[in-house]
Amino acid sequence: MACRASALLLLSLVLAALGPVCHATPVNSRDNVPAGYYAAPYYPTPHGGWLASWSESYAKAQQLVSRMTLAEKTNITGGCGIYMGSATELPCVGNTGSANRVGFPQLCLQDSALGVAATDNVTAFPAGITTGATWDKNLIYARGVALGREFRGKGANVYLGPTVGPLGRKPLGGRNWEGFGSDPVLQAVAAAMTIKGVQEQGVIATIKHLVGNEQEMYRMYNPLKPGYSANIDDRTLHEIYLWPFAEGIHAGVGSVMTAYNAVNGSACSQHSYLINGILKDELGFQGFVMSDWLSHISGVDSALAGLDMDMPGDTNVPLFGYSEWKYELTRSVLNGSVPLDRLNDMATRIVAAWYQTGQDKDFPPPNFSSNTKDRDGLLYPAALFSPNGQVNWFVNVQADHYKVARQVAQDAITLLKNNGSLLPLSTSRPLKIFGTDAQVNSDGPNACLNRACDKGTLGMGWGSGIADYPYFDDPITAIRGRTSGVTFYNSDVFPAVPTPTADDVAIVFINSDAGENSFTVEGNHGDRDSAKLAAWHRGDALVKSAAAKYSDVVVVVHTVGPLILEPWIDLPSVKAVLFAHLPGQEAGESLTNVLFGDVSPSGHLPYSITKASTDLPNSVANLKGYAVGQVQDTYSEGLYIDYRYLNKMGIKPRFAFGHGLSYTTFSFSNASIASVTPLTLVPPPRSPKGPTPSFSSAIPPAAEAYYPAGFNRIWRYIYSYLPPDDANAASGVGAAGTKQYAYPSGYSTTQTAGPAAGGDLGGNAALWDVAWTVTLTIDNAGTQFPGRAVAQAYLQYPAGIPYDTPVVQLRDFAKTDALAPGEAATVTLQLTRKDVSVWDVEAQNWVVPGVGGKRYTIWLGEASDALFTACYTDTLTCESGLKSPV
Ligand code: BGC
Repeated sequence: MACRASALLLLSLVLAALGPVCHATPVNSRDNVPAGYYAAPYYPTPHGGWLASWSESYAKAQQLVSRMTLAEKTNITGGCGIYMGSATELPCVGNTGSANRVGFPQLCLQDSALGVAATDNVTAFPAGITTGATWDKNLIYARGVALGREFRGKGANVYLGPTVGPLGRKPLGGRNWEGFGSDPVLQAVAAAMTIKGVQEQGVIATIKHLVGNEQEMYRMYNPLKPGYSANIDDRTLHEIYLWPFAEGIHAGVGSVMTAYNAVNGSACSQHSYLINGILKDELGFQGFVMSDWLSHISGVDSALAGLDMDMPGDTNVPLFGYSEWKYELTRSVLNGSVPLDRLNDMATRIVAAWYQTGQDKDFPPPNFSSNTKDRDGLLYPAALFSPNGQVNWFVNVQADHYKVARQVAQDAITLLKNNGSLLPLSTSRPLKIFGTDAQVNSDGPNACLNRACDKGTLGMGWGSGIADYPYFDDPITAIRGRTSGVTFYNSDVFPAVPTPTADDVAIVFINSDAGENSFTVEGNHGDRDSAKLAAWHRGDALVKSAAAKYSDVVVVVHTVGPLILEPWIDLPSVKAVLFAHLPGQEAGESLTNVLFGDVSPSGHLPYSITKASTDLPNSVANLKGYAVGQVQDTYSEGLYIDYRYLNKMGIKPRFAFGHGLSYTTFSFSNASIASVTPLTLVPPPRSPKGPTPSFSSAIPPAAEAYYPAGFNRIWRYIYSYLPPDDANAASGVGAAGTKQYAYPSGYSTTQTAGPAAGGDLGGNAALWDVAWTVTLTIDNAGTQFPGRAVAQAYLQYPAGIPYDTPVVQLRDFAKTDALAPGEAATVTLQLTRKDVSVWDVEAQNWVVPGVGGKRYTIWLGEASDALFTACYTDTLTCESGLKSPV
C-alpha cells in the first residue's frame, strides 16, 4: 500500500480513539472571523439543467435518475470509502457507488493534475507551474489532450485537475506548483485549455480547490480543530481567486472540488454562498461539486449548501465505515431533513456530467489499482478480511506523449539572466557540473512514495499531485550525451577542484521543493516553512563557491516557485540563470536543447521573484501560524498580490512576473487597436433560466432503502442502504413536515431567477463579448538565433474612476512560433467585457468603469515591467517607445 495510504492509516489510528466521541461533536467554525467578512446564506441550491448547452445531457439524466431507487441515488453521490475500491469494483483514489440496475456505473476519480497517479506506464508530465511558464495556449491544450487520453486509457472517469486554488498568493504555499502561476488570467487560460483538452477525450475534469487553500498548514478540519478560515472580501474573491474557476466553468468543466479550509468562517464543503450562490447561480455551473478528501463535516448542511458528491465517502475520521452521506443521506431523505428534490438534483448533476462527456458510450473500465503495484492484490484493501485477485493489468497509455511533455518542459525554461551571452554553450567548452539536482535520485525516480523527498533532480513537488515516472531523463545524462568534456561533482558541498582553465564553464544545479501537508520533507510540512525561500541543501553556498572559483557560471534551478536569489545573483561570474521549474520526466533533453542552443529559451516567469520576502505584505509573505480556535488567514492585501502589490508600492523585484529572456531579441511594432463590441455600464440583462428536470416529490417508500435480502456486507465498505427497521423508523418521522430540523438561517426551498451577473456558463454571456482587440507585429530582431516571443497585454484602468485598481493587470497573451532572424509574425490579443470591468460589490455585478469614452490603456510587452507600447481605447491609437508604467 502506498505511503499516502500509510500516512492516512496512521492518522486514522491516532484519531480512532476519538472517533465515536468527536464524530458527534460539532466544530464551532464561526469563531473569530474579523468584522467585514461574511459567509451569507444562499438557498436553495439552484437546480442544474437550465442552460441550453447542457440540456440534452440533462434530458437523458432525468430519464435515468427517475428510474433510480432512493438507495441508488444516494449511492452515486458518495464514495464507498477510502481504499475500499476493488478490482471487481473500482480501485481509484475515489470510487462512487453505482446504480448498475439502470445502467449507471461506479465512477473512478483519480489524481493527479500532472498525470495518472499511483499507477505505471503513464507519462509524468511537467507540473502546472511549468505549464504556466510556457505561456503557450496551444501547448497547454496539447498537454490537456494527452492527459485526457491517459486517464481514459486507464479507465479513469474523472481527472482530479486542473488545480487553480492555490493561486500562489503566498510564495511559501505548498501546492502552488500544481497550478499555473500567481495571476488569475494566466491560471484561468491554462485551466480552460487543460479542461478543453481533457474533456474532449471524454474524461470529466475537476477544477479545484474552491477556494482560498493558499497555505497547507491548518488547512483541514479534524475533530480537534477547524481548518483555517480564508477571509476574502467579495471584490477580491471575484477579481482574483474566483476568476480561474469562472473561466473553467465557461470552458465547460464537469466537476468542481471544494477546498479543505473555510472561507469567511464557513467550511467550503458546506458553504451555501460559495456553492449555491456563486458556483451554481452566478457562474451557472451545471456539473457536480465534490468535497476534497475527508473534508466533509456535516450531512444535511452540506447537502443543502449544494455539495453533490462526498469523497471518498468516509467521515473525517476515516476507515470505520462511517459516512456523513450514503446511508445517512438515505435516512435524511426518508425523514425529510434533506428534500428529495435536492437529492434528485445531486444525482442528476452527476449523471448529466457523465452524458455531457459521452461516458455512456464505450468508456473503458479501470485497469489499474491505486493500492498496489503488483498484479494481484487485496480486492478490498481496507477490509478486515479481503479476497485476493488480479488488480493491475499494466496498460501502457503513454503513446508518444513524451513529446508534448518534453516540449512543455523545454518551452517553460526561463532565462532570467545571460550576461555576456554566456548561453548557449558551445559543446567544445569543458563543463564542470555541481549539485545533486543534476542527477536522478540514485534510489530510483519513484523511490520516495508520493515524491516525499528531495533527492536528485526535482521533477515535481510532493503529495497527491504527482504521478510515477515511467523513466527519468535527467540533466547529467542528457549533458553527457552532448559533449564529452563533462566532470560531474555529485554533491551539494563544493569539492576540491583543479584550477579552472579559461574555457571551463561551471553549471550549478539547485532546487526548492514543497508539497501537500500530509507529508513532511526536511522539516517542511507541505509549505516551504523551514527553508523559506532559500535554495535547499545549501544551494546558495554551492553557487557562491562555484562563482568564487569559475568565471563562467550557469545556475539551473528546479523549483516549485520563487526563490530569493540575492545571495549570488549579482556575482560577476554568475552569468546565466535558467529556471527549469518542475519538468516532470523530461528534465534532460529539454534542458540541453536550451543550454546548447538548439532552441532559444522561451519561458516567462509565472510569478515575481522579489529581492526579499519582506518585499511582500505580511499577510502574503508569511504562513498563518497556530491560533487557539480557528486560524484566521485574512486577505487584507485585497487585490494586491505578486506584481500587483510590488507595482503599487514601487518595489522593484529582482525579476518581474512575465520576465523571460531569449537568445535573440524581439521588436514589437505596428500596434493597432480596434473596438469590437460597444459596452454599456453593466452587461445586458441575463437570459432567463431554462427549464430543469422535474421529478416526483413524494418521499419514496422506506423499502427503497432496505439492504437487499441476504446481502453480504463488507465491513467498512460504505453503503447507501439501511436496515429495514432503521429505514422504517426514519420514514415514520419523515411524514412531510413532522421533522424539526434546525435549518440554517436564510434557508428556503424556492428556486430563484438568479443574479444579474449570471446567465450562462461562467456568468452573464455578455462578459465574454470582445471589447477591444490589439494587433501587433513581432520581429525577431536578432541575427543569429531563432526564437519564440510572448506578447503580454496588461490593462490600465482609466484615471479618476471610483475604484482602486492595480496599475496594470494581465489580460491576454500569445506566443509566436519560432521566428527565424528577421522573420516577423502578427499576433492579436483581445480584451473582453469582463477584462475591462470591476466587480462592484454594491451592484453585485461587473461594471465597466470606462463607459463614456474614458481612456483605458492596453500595455503591450514582454513582461509586466517591460511594457513599451500602449494602445488607447478612447482614440483607438497606439504609441511605441514609451516608458514602462511600472
Ligand atoms: C487533495 C486533492 C486530491 C485528493 C485525492 C486531497 O488531499 O487535496 O487535491 O485530489 O486528496 O487524493
